[in-house]
Amino acid sequence: MSKVELAIVLAAGEGTRMKSQTAKVLHQIAGKSIIENVLAAVKPLNPKATSVVVGAHRELVEAHLTLIAPSAKSIFQATRNGTGGAVQLALAEYKGDGTVLILAGDTPLLTAQTLSEFVDSHLAGKNQASVLTALLPDPTGYGRVLRGENNSILKIVEEKDCNELEAEVDEINTGVYLFEVKVLREVISKLQANNSQKELYLTDVIGLITSSGKVAAAVLSNDYTETLGINDRSQLAECAAIMRDRINHQHMLNGVTIIDPTTTWIDSDVKIAEDVTIYPATAISGKTSIATGAVIGPRTTLVNCEVAESAQVIESFATDSKIGNSAKVGPYSYLRTGTVLAAEAKIGAYVETKNSSIGKGSKVPHLSYVGDAQIGEGTNIGAATIFVNYDGENKHQTKIGNQVRIGSDTMLVAPVFVGDGAYTAAGSVINEDVPAGAIGIGRARQINILGWVLRKRKGSKSADAAKNAGASE
Ligand code: UD1
Ligand code: MG
Repeated sequence: MSKVELAIVLAAGEGTRMKSQTAKVLHQIAGKSIIENVLAAVKPLNPKATSVVVGAHRELVEAHLTLIAPSAKSIFQATRNGTGGAVQLALAEYKGDGTVLILAGDTPLLTAQTLSEFVDSHLAGKNQASVLTALLPDPTGYGRVLRGENNSILKIVEEKDCNELEAEVDEINTGVYLFEVKVLREVISKLQANNSQKELYLTDVIGLITSSGKVAAAVLSNDYTETLGINDRSQLAECAAIMRDRINHQHMLNGVTIIDPTTTWIDSDVKIAEDVTIYPATAISGKTSIATGAVIGPRTTLVNCEVAESAQVIESFATDSKIGNSAKVGPYSYLRTGTVLAAEAKIGAYVETKNSSIGKGSKVPHLSYVGDAQIGEGTNIGAATIFVNYDGENKHQTKIGNQVRIGSDTMLVAPVFVGDGAYTAAGSVINEDVPAGAIGIGRARQINILGWVLRKRKGSKSADAAKNAGASE
């Protein structure tokens, strides 16, 4: 059963204070847009309808909404004449009655639990209007709540319109409201823009409701951090840090060791099992999942990766990759899209991989590029080997069998195939297939010109050293 008929999310504002080409509500917190965070908190209330008022950057916001909340109705506010104007439009398009929840699209820390308690308190008190309020250590910038008797509100005064006494009030309007639609309809058309911003303030409906003899209730939230709104980049960072702490706290309670929670940034959709350890300065984002016993970091970024049990990823960057059981990555490895490491595989220092699978127990330990390759099991790729996958126009595949030993500094010019148990000689350019069990040697034969240094570098330290070693011209 839904206790709320309609939810209205206000997201038409210019977001001027963000100084951005992007709509304010599309900036991200923990891997989700600000508005996606807001809608995620509203969703469990199960409102019968959700309307989002859009305006500035309309196309971007609407395109985003079709991805994250396709059932939400978008309402276009052509002229941004204030939060009151935005709600007038949303109500005009809504024919029903019941209870309406109104909130701003820029308060991403609100939780479903707080909203649900707010709804319960509104319904239990049979309120006509309720405002979620908060006591802020620094109320600067917010509308101040002027209380009447009991838990009622007389009116809300925007900071820009406050007198000195009003400005000292530290209880603020969080921008989250519940109204009985009928009551709201009676007053919303009466809003006037006679204030410092020349806007229709939604907050003024409270004064209108109380002066018509009805009661508007103030419901004080327990945790003011949930109600922080984002208007500039500094508040964006502040809210992101609070969300980070909240997410890390939950993982720690679930049995994850996070050595330095202040430098560990984990997106909200990341899944981490018990007994994973995360070292400092690590970011884990997107749809990443990490299985038990894995060790991640320090200084590691994982984007949309699947990390299996007991794997280690140290000082590395990996995106859209799978890292198998007990596999080892890093330090200083770069795993690009489509890298799949089987169990116990190893990718070592200064190795870049892309669209490649590396078989069980196979190793690429040092200074290599592995692109568009399939490598079998138990194979070793020598230091500084390059999979030459690009001919300037097209990408080609390299296939390497099981138990292969690729010599250091081999160039594997794709398409090419190296059979099971084969070797390549160090420094080879391999552009023909190497059959199973063969060694491929693709390099010029070495010649030594005796006495060259003594003749051509006479008197040099090298010549002296050679002479002392018994060399002659
Ligand atoms: C608003 C409240 C303030 C409260 C604060 C809480 C008003 C007048 N003030 O101030 O009391 O303390 O939120 O965060 O409501 N919007 C529209 N159309 C418009 C103008 C704004 O949709 O014409 C949207 C914005 O996109 C935003 C929300 O409404 O998501 C609030 O607008 P904003 O300009 O951020 O108001 P605040 O100054 O934060
Ligand atoms: Mg705001």
